[in-house]
Amino acid sequence: MKRHQYQADSLIEVLHSAQQLFGYLEDGLLLYIAHSLHVPPSRVYGVATFYHFFSLKPQGKHSCVICLGTACYVKGATQLVDAISQTYGIKAGQTSEDGQVSLLTARCVGACGIAPAVVYDGTVSGHGTSENVIEKLKGWREDGAA
Ligand code: FES
Repeated sequence: MKRHQYQADSLIEVLHSAQQLFGYLEDGLLLYIAHSLHVPPSRVYGVATFYHFFSLKPQGKHSCVICLGTACYVKGATQLVDAISQTYGIKAGQTSEDGQVSLLTARCVGACGIAPAVVYDGTVSGHGTSENVIEKLKGWREDGAA
């Protein structure tokens, strides 16, 4: 905030830095930013919830992002989300109880040619199936339990 001279129009950059530092944006942090930048808390909260790359909850050790853009949707991406939801009891935007996996969704990750695309910990993977997605997550959970 100091680097941006506490300018209200630096809100997005400040939120981005705060998330990088703390991992997610908890309520107290949003209020602190609102107070420091002299912007209404409702505006800070509105921006933090509008952009999907901001998270208001702690994320899991691993992230699995299912692309639900048109190409991936047509190739059955929702079945991948359903498979994870049924197997691990988490919905999109939630983290498994053991803190190992966060399930997220996105709109086109730029890999339409290999749809349905899944991003595992920042690495894009193509041709996702219910089986290979569950297998990948199973590996993460086993590693976490070891
Ligand atoms: S729609 Fe999924 S990568 Fe483009």
